[in-house]
Amino acid sequence: MKKVLFGMLVLALSGVLLAACGGGSSAASSDALPAVPAEYAGKTNPLGADAATAGADVFNTNCAACHGPQGHGDGPAGAALNPAPKNLPDLAAKVGDDYLYWRINTGVEGTGMVAWKGILTDDQIWEVVAFIHTLK
Ligand code: HEC
Repeated sequence: MKKVLFGMLVLALSGVLLAACGGGSSAASSDALPAVPAEYAGKTNPLGADAATAGADVFNTNCAACHGPQGHGDGPAGAALNPAPKNLPDLAAKVGDDYLYWRINTGVEGTGMVAWKGILTDDQIWEVVAFIHTLK
């Protein structure tokens, strides 16, 4: 029993040390994209690629101001943002629809990217995901 407790103490302490070292060091933040949370992982677009037509409207109304008309991250409202809006065709080439759907739903905390869940309908979010695939 004592051994187990000691082991847990060591684990807890090394956790604290790791957290202390990691905090504030920007070297720790790599370009690796985060994993899609279980709640969203593996989801596919129920509307299919045709939804891109409706998605263009959703995008132009809600997203283009920051992400730019072609999603390159160069919209006028995005110019002053730090971090800058992402280049969406670049991102879409690297991630699945579940990733895009997750990020659009929940946003990215601490950035200009708000959570669109509740602002857009679920269908509109899938439509805009389909539209992102038409961007180059
Ligand atoms: C107010 C400006 C703004 C608007 C409007 C906006 N975004 Fe963003 N978006 C951002 C910023 C800033 C980031 C970069 C966040 C980061 O670096 O992680 C981002 C990131 C993203 C990402 C990538 C998230 C990631 O994993 O890095 C996606 C996908 C995205 N936006 C889609 C959209 C869609 C779709 C819309 C419209 C429904 C939209 N955005 C509207 C500012 C905006």
